[in-house]
Amino acid sequence: MIWLAAASALASSGRVEIDAAQLGAKVPKSLYGVFLEEINNSGEGGLYAELIQNRGFEDANVPPGCTVNGRTLFAPKNPSFWEGYSKNFQMEWPYDSTMPFWSVQGLQLSTRITDAHPLTPASPHALEFTSTAVGGRIVNDGFWGIGVKMGAAYRLSLHAQSLGYTGSLTARLVGQDGKVLASAPIRSIPSGKWGKLSANLTATGSDSRAKFELVVNGKGKGLIDFVSLFPAKTFKNRPNGLRPDLAKMIADLKPAFVRWPGGCVVEGITIETRPRWEQTLGPIETRTPTFIPWGYWVSNGFGYHEWLQFCEDIGAEPLYVFSVGVSCAFRSGTYLPDSETPNLIQNTLDAIEYAIGPTTSKWGGLRAKNGHPKPFPMRTIEIGNEEQGAKYGARVAQFIKPIKAKYPQLKIALSSWISGIDHAAIDAAGPGLDIVDEHAYKPIHWAVNNFDSFAKYPRNVPWELYIGEFATNSGVGRGNMLATIGDAAYMMNMEKNGDLVKMGSYAPLLENTNRRQWEVNLIHFDTDKLYGRASYYACKLFAENLPTVNLATKVDFTPTGENPIHGPIGLGIFGTTAEFKDIQVEQDGKSVYRYDPSAPGKGWQIESGQWVARDGVYAQTGPDFDVWSRLPGDYKDTKVSFKARRLSGAEGFVVSVGNADGRRVQFNVGGWNNTQHTLEVAGQVIKAVRTKAEDGRWYDVEVETRGRHVTCKLDGKVLFDEELPRIDKVLAVAGRDDATGDIIVKVLNPTSAPVDLDLALQNAALTGKGTVTTLASENPEAENSYEKPNQIVPTVTPISFSGDSLKRRFPAYSVSIVRVKTR
Ligand code: AHR
Repeated sequence: MIWLAAASALASSGRVEIDAAQLGAKVPKSLYGVFLEEINNSGEGGLYAELIQNRGFEDANVPPGCTVNGRTLFAPKNPSFWEGYSKNFQMEWPYDSTMPFWSVQGLQLSTRITDAHPLTPASPHALEFTSTAVGGRIVNDGFWGIGVKMGAAYRLSLHAQSLGYTGSLTARLVGQDGKVLASAPIRSIPSGKWGKLSANLTATGSDSRAKFELVVNGKGKGLIDFVSLFPAKTFKNRPNGLRPDLAKMIADLKPAFVRWPGGCVVEGITIETRPRWEQTLGPIETRTPTFIPWGYWVSNGFGYHEWLQFCEDIGAEPLYVFSVGVSCAFRSGTYLPDSETPNLIQNTLDAIEYAIGPTTSKWGGLRAKNGHPKPFPMRTIEIGNEEQGAKYGARVAQFIKPIKAKYPQLKIALSSWISGIDHAAIDAAGPGLDIVDEHAYKPIHWAVNNFDSFAKYPRNVPWELYIGEFATNSGVGRGNMLATIGDAAYMMNMEKNGDLVKMGSYAPLLENTNRRQWEVNLIHFDTDKLYGRASYYACKLFAENLPTVNLATKVDFTPTGENPIHGPIGLGIFGTTAEFKDIQVEQDGKSVYRYDPSAPGKGWQIESGQWVARDGVYAQTGPDFDVWSRLPGDYKDTKVSFKARRLSGAEGFVVSVGNADGRRVQFNVGGWNNTQHTLEVAGQVIKAVRTKAEDGRWYDVEVETRGRHVTCKLDGKVLFDEELPRIDKVLAVAGRDDATGDIIVKVLNPTSAPVDLDLALQNAALTGKGTVTTLASENPEAENSYEKPNQIVPTVTPISFSGDSLKRRFPAYSVSIVRVKTR
């Protein structure tokens, strides 16, 4: 149910003046890239097309240097780089079996994991089975199932050996209902030595959560290892390749570069667990897996070479992030001593040589042997991720010298913590630093309100700015149109400051629905389907409509009307049972609603939760989080009053009194684990009083709105009395595309009403023809989904106009790209 009031306000009007004769900063071709990190099972069980989880039976391994006790992993008690003492870092250990994701069906079959017959040093463990009667099954769950499609072919390979086993195996794909979807025999299992066997399977049915099975048709003891299943069709048909639909989604963003492998992944939870590019080359059985900071093992099947190849396949430059010898600041922060830095630097030089060195060099030669004699177009590297301070900068300085000596053409980036420029790190890195990578995760409306942020950055600096990770990701649910508005504003800000901001990449890029580890991600996928959030389409539009140079652009817009807080009234609960009574709503001093105990619940629309009307009270009786019952309507200038008490659970109760700019305004009593009462807009705390809601105590609650003013009272005492600032403005940037001569104007209407704009295009030889591409949603909280993947997608409309003025209505909550032809 859409409970936000539709964009009903009258259109405001304004003017955007663009002067094609006044050139601004050049817009770098490198501006829009992607950041690919192994998080949310984005690669493993995602982009990397392998369908078997724990194919090498190594997932129960304890990560190097760590210990595991039950379901907890402990980092070694070594000092952290920054804190100087051991932070005693621990995290959840996700595996509770010696053979995660594998199981056995049939009493006649027993299994164990053994390292008595190592296949390779990187894959020492194997599954040993003993069969006393035919028909037992060894089952793999895939990555939350296997997305099997009717008619599709799958390539299986596995290593097996008989230790007295006689008979064959049958590889099968089996649907959730037990139906066999594909089957192929595996015969000739070598005795006493490993042999690589393969089979092709073709599906006769579809199932998004199928399983893989090996049916044991004989008796005796045998071993299997490295069971790998790929769809025959991969991106660009590469062996050991990528899921085509996901790879295409990324390719369609036309990224100028791909930053990889992280993110936090770069440094590991401990220094011992950091990724090692050199261990991700060659036959997949020989690659040492990595336990990543996001808490799972990664097979490294998508390794350094595959990443370089992927970049080439999608026309992007590779941007590798190297470890600076310090593990993740949010995890243990353990590090390599300075005495180890020379080895680390040599390792970095080797990686660069692999990417761009001549085939006569050691690592360039290996690249050629791995099928790519031609150097990859690596031009930029980064040293460290989200590190800080002079100590980090000094380490970067040690890298810069030898790298620049051997590869003077390479640009070197330093990671500048989260938000802003880390001058201490930059100063310590010293000469030779080319790029500063700032990470910018911003709350709702930040980018609209801070459209001048990059203009305020220093200009006389020897480095360029890269926004390696950006996203509007708080106060926007799991991503919605308001997030997209923020992301578009942020990109427009980058674009108009192209003299400083040379590169940017949204983060995180991918979310496997089955393991969401980050609240807001760009592309969502499951075993067999995917969709891009509205922000995906904004990123795509911006990359497709990259001008060569900015043009002077002036926006003259004053919103009309008051833009008051308005919308439905709601009662909400976060993990609590609570009761409400004597609920009243007044507008302009007149009662417009009064809870009637003789007509319990009348007028309320239950959106979620277990709401019941009993004994004159309205109660939420379940343990649910973020559940609401609403009084629908477009209430404004309203006083809501009631009595409420919490009965049990984590928090108190919430009342929402409509929306400001599409953002829910609410008074939260006993919020945030019952630590504070807060005034919130879109879930962001505007003001807080640290206290708790007492059990069983009836509170008198009153919230009054007048225009954009909101007053919250508890037991007659004013807790909050706030005027919410107006954020209804229009943003625009314009540029010229030298390849086509087109003038490209990006217009952002973040307001809840349409805006009529007069685009005055001065000093341009216009043809009067063009297009407007619009990405819009009337409901600012709407987002694409598996059910409605195309709810918010761009629509293209041809336009024609005369003279140098183009008048157009820009819908509420919209991002528009106006492209006009010139002669
Ligand atoms: O993008 C997710 C994480 O955010 C990255 O791993 C890290 O660099 C940042 O903190």
